[in-house]
Amino acid sequence: MVKLESSLSYWMGRVDLNNTIDLVKKYGEVINQYLNEYVPEAAVPEKKIYEAMRYSLLAGGKRIRPVLTLAVNQLFDGDMDEAIPFACAIEMIHTYSLIHDDLPAMDNDDYRRRRLTNHKVFGEGIAVLTGDALLNKAFEIMISILRDGYSLDRKVRVMYEIANASGIEGMIGGQVVDLESEGKFVDQETLRYMHSRKTGRLIVASAVAGAITAGAGEEDIGKIRSYASNLGLAFQIKDDILSEIGEQEKLGKRVGNDREKNKSTYVTTLGLDEAKRLLDITTRSSIESLESFKERAEFLIGLAEFLLHREN
Ligand code: IPE
Ligand code: IPE
Ligand code: MG
Ligand code: MG
Repeated sequence: MVKLESSLSYWMGRVDLNNTIDLVKKYGEVINQYLNEYVPEAAVPEKKIYEAMRYSLLAGGKRIRPVLTLAVNQLFDGDMDEAIPFACAIEMIHTYSLIHDDLPAMDNDDYRRRRLTNHKVFGEGIAVLTGDALLNKAFEIMISILRDGYSLDRKVRVMYEIANASGIEGMIGGQVVDLESEGKFVDQETLRYMHSRKTGRLIVASAVAGAITAGAGEEDIGKIRSYASNLGLAFQIKDDILSEIGEQEKLGKRVGNDREKNKSTYVTTLGLDEAKRLLDITTRSSIESLESFKERAEFLIGLAEFLLHREN
């Protein structure tokens, strides 16, 4: 334990966050280019759905999930071209979840990614369909590359990870607990359960997709899963903190909305100080799982630190 802690602080202090940020940007640009091509403009009678998909998808999200996929793939010396379609599919599923999350029937939010929300611009009917269309497109992309190149087994496994993480055992399950916890006192165990599902599972699938596409061994996949599961939990705790004390201009979405809507979050339930403490512990736990990768894990350690301090 002592050995672990001393080597952890060694790594945490050593990572140059500017390098991390540069690499996030580089991977993010690759993803943006592919997303732009996967969902083009179209001169068809239903062109509005393409416009609405592009409006939310290309609005400038942080691309943390696909960046994680590409970074983990590179950690295991994978072929990035094998990972890119999965990374884009995950970003589409994430964007669909945000469009639906913002609908009046759910969180009823007006701003997202520094823009009016999808339903505010296109109306609720089109916003529902835009979410559905992004989810469907994600699976079209993944199925279309199944027989390209090699490693059909790996690709099917990644698809299962992504489908499972997005569904009732993952994001949708967590969103149900989130909705049902509005206006109620929930204990810490329920908060953890909800956050690990609504946000954590897709982040885990993103990282694991990178490992599987690179042909990583089971033990290494387990370490990456453990890293990402704490990272995902930390990510949502930070989201709760930013909803309380963030700056709307930097965040690109409303501040104070969780409290106004009687949401049960780490902050509204446990208070700001306890939420910050748990964020710190959870981030440290995520980094601990990377111990055996030594300097090869520098980017993933930097990413955890970068997300800990993020302002949007
Ligand atoms: C916001 O996710 C919603 C959560 C699941 C916490 P992000 O903070 O990754 O949002 P974008 O993609 O950068 O807009
Ligand atoms: C969003 O959670 C989680 C998903 C979309 C799956 P929140 O509702 O807490 O996130 P924001 O604050 O609206 O981005
Ligand atoms: Mg929500
Ligand atoms: Mg919300």
